[in-house]
Amino acid sequence: MGRLDGKVAIITGATSGMGRDTAYVFAEEGAKVMIVGRNEERAKEVVAKIKENGGEASYVIADMADRSTLDKIVDETLAKYGTVDILFNNAGLLSLANSLDITLEEWDKIMQVNLTSALILAKKVAPIMKAKGKGSIINTGSIAGTSARWGAVAYCTSKHAMNGLTKALARELGPEIRVNAILPGAIVTAMLDSVGGEAAVEGMKEMSPLKRVGHGREIGTVALFFATDDSSFVTGQLLRVDGGVDC
Ligand SMILES: NC(=O)c1ccc[n+]([C@@H]2O[C@H](COP(=O)([O-])OP(=O)(O)OC[C@H]3O[C@@H](n4cnc5c(N)ncnc54)[C@H](OP(=O)(O)O)[C@@H]3O)[C@@H](O)[C@H]2O)c1
Repeated sequence: MGRLDGKVAIITGATSGMGRDTAYVFAEEGAKVMIVGRNEERAKEVVAKIKENGGEASYVIADMADRSTLDKIVDETLAKYGTVDILFNNAGLLSLANSLDITLEEWDKIMQVNLTSALILAKKVAPIMKAKGKGSIINTGSIAGTSARWGAVAYCTSKHAMNGLTKALARELGPEIRVNAILPGAIVTAMLDSVGGEAAVEGMKEMSPLKRVGHGREIGTVALFFATDDSSFVTGQLLRVDGGVDC
């Protein structure tokens, strides 16, 4: 018996990286998983792998930058599975631009993908979860949401704001819905590869008591904690999953 048997989970950014690994973890625990991303080929691969392993999943193609496509994520989940129990707002886009160079178009896009999409989806699932008396919303922040060590003005600001969104949603959507955030450190994914992979974070590895980077399943198992009653008295929390780099 899985810990998410009978539950329906929406995971954005589930076509790659830690969202994909979380989808595998949730499906192994019995959840029906709605995979969300822009890349249909990768979405199909994730669904196929889950089904090969005896799980249940489906996908919906949506661009978090395009507000008009977001309603269909929840609508198609309801049409396919009838309800939503867990929302993992994990899709994210990296921008390294600094404040003097960034265009307002890039700023707006990062805010929409990394932050506003999470609010839009939370607004859409909250009435469903409230009506059932229970739900869990999990947001992906970053350790770039607790300091501006790397600059990257839009990314850093969006991830700091995700902390506030998490706390405000927790405050407003209780007692039925719990809302928490995972703040990953360096995790081996396509996003880390895009900035040079592990070689680019040697300094962080050295600062970490664990002396290594993290892996997607290590985010998935923390998301599982927030998704299940194991965290039934936990809401409004920001959990760094970073190997202890700043401890
Ligand atoms: N890796 C790290 O070290 C690290 C550290 C801290 C925080 N994070 C955060 O972790 C989350 C997941 O990132 P990752 O590291 O797993 O990177 P990743 O492998 O690049 O995955 C990013 C995911 O986000 C989706 N996505 C990006 N832009 C999108 C858009 N406009 N519309 C819909 N989906 C979009 C991508 O799907 P498609 O390509 O199919 O659209 C993909 O599934 C992000 O929020 C990121 O900021 C990562």
